[in-house]
Amino acid sequence: MATLGVLDSANLNGGQKLAVKYFTVAIALFGAQVLFGLLAGLQYLYPDFLYGVLDFSVNRMLHINAMVVWLLFGFIGAVYWLLEDESGVPVVGLALGNLVFWVLTLAVVAVVGVYLLVQVGPGEMKSIWLINEGREYIEAPRWADIGIVVCVLAFFYNVAATFMKGRFTGIGGVLVLDLVALAGLYTAGMWYTPNISMDQHWWWWVIHLWVEATWEVLVGCLLAYGLIKTMGVRRKIVETWLYIEVALLFGSGILGLGHHYFWIGTPEYWLSIGGFFSALEPIPLVAMVVHAVFDAGHHKLKSTNNPALAWMIAQAFGNFFGAGVWGFMHTLPQINLYTHGTQWTASHGHLAFFGAYATIVIAFVYLAVQKWRGNVWMSGELVGAWRWKWAIFLLHVGMIGMTMALLVAGYEQSQIERAIEGSGWMAYFAAQAHPWFQQGMTWRMISGWIFTAGFLLLAWDLLTIGSRETRPARRLEPQEAMAAA
Ligand code: HEM
Ligand code: HEM
Ligand SMILES: [Fe+2]
Repeated sequence: MATLGVLDSANLNGGQKLAVKYFTVAIALFGAQVLFGLLAGLQYLYPDFLYGVLDFSVNRMLHINAMVVWLLFGFIGAVYWLLEDESGVPVVGLALGNLVFWVLTLAVVAVVGVYLLVQVGPGEMKSIWLINEGREYIEAPRWADIGIVVCVLAFFYNVAATFMKGRFTGIGGVLVLDLVALAGLYTAGMWYTPNISMDQHWWWWVIHLWVEATWEVLVGCLLAYGLIKTMGVRRKIVETWLYIEVALLFGSGILGLGHHYFWIGTPEYWLSIGGFFSALEPIPLVAMVVHAVFDAGHHKLKSTNNPALAWMIAQAFGNFFGAGVWGFMHTLPQINLYTHGTQWTASHGHLAFFGAYATIVIAFVYLAVQKWRGNVWMSGELVGAWRWKWAIFLLHVGMIGMTMALLVAGYEQSQIERAIEGSGWMAYFAAQAHPWFQQGMTWRMISGWIFTAGFLLLAWDLLTIGSRETRPARRLEPQEAMAAA
């Protein structure tokens, strides 16, 4: 048996060995996201900073593309992490899975290299294929798009075929159906049309339907598995919750798409459809909080992996506040008329992506590190526990600080630029010059540094946590262990 506390891949099953590769790249890209976010934030304060060398447009693009990609790497890793455990059989195409991992990683490196090297120039068919498609969040050129679709299909094959060969749990079934939708929607963002309304119409199919439908369902599955593993919550309860959440998420999230169709030239009926259905979107998020908090309370917060549990609870609340509350605030057309595209949107975007998705990936990385070190102790009185606690604390102080600073700036923009000055050219500058806006940008930066400190501590902790522990993981009580089996 491997020594406790020492990283040894013999502790992992095949799918999990692949998962830790995905997690490693995910955390590295998280670092890249933070770096480019800092540069973009600094350019708000010092507009000349790196001008002509690394422009704001490029930093911003790298910031949010790195985010999408690291979260996707994290999700794929998390699915490989649970795959053999849930299905009861080894991953059917592990060699294929490994190949895909390397192809994807190299493609990401190539795309980032091109973004950095070719920052300006005309947009034409050649640049769509080779350089940049110009669609926010999914700017990758078309060659990479096609490559991504092929890789995701291979991943889907691995997941579906493994479950089919082994057993289909409730979590497994929802996961497989969800992956069909997730992969299919991506192709909606690949078509070129010179009509900007149509282009936006399809682009939102990816952006909105991913984060407010398929990604939410995916994290629902991950959370369900995580709660079973760390606390021995009964599968029947978790899966029942999962079905309810999925029904509510799809029920409100699909037509909620309409909240992006208010002002892009689509028919007027979207005002009512989008307003109504998106207003219902917070309901499943409430269900998810209740679910996680109820389970955690029921088990008196006793878990086999405290950092993972803490990050799962952070997920439940972050999702509820970031997506549910911050999304609801500006989702009615009467309000969105004033807030659309202001820092209000950025405030919501930050808290939602971090709260709903970054958190759950981090939780799974903690689960992975624990097992990688031979299933070492990660419950109370862990040696060096201050690190994970300070990391989660600083990351949240930083994120909430940024969210609030952006909210104040966005509030000021809605008032001055939209409501008072009437949205004209000069109105835009009047809003930018207002002290509330400028102070908001400064406070975002200060909070961004705090977030960065939290990130560095998190990275350090993920590398070291458990290394000085010699105790095996806390065991689930017999009835918990039976439930988790
Ligand atoms: C985890 C789930 C969610 C994530 C990650 C998320 C993220 C985002 C992001 C990044 C944007 C900005 C998009 C852009 O660049 O234009 C956005 C816009 C928006 N979101 Fe969300 N969101 C989520 C859930 C929700 C929910 C549940 C609601 C409503 C209840 C909502 C309402 C809105 C609205 C109305 C906009 C448009 C803002 C504008 O007009 O500028 N979001 N969201
Ligand atoms: C050091 C920390 C960070 C800083 C300084 C930072 C800064 C920025 C800046 C300056 C922008 C461009 C805003 C604009 O176009 O006006 C931006 C956009 C964005 N960032 Fe960050 N960011 C940080 C961390 C994060 C994290 C951790 C996430 C999510 C996990 C995130 C998600 C986003 C999103 C979704 C957008 C696009 C928002 C929109 O379109 O409205 N950022 N960030
Ligand atoms: Fe949306």
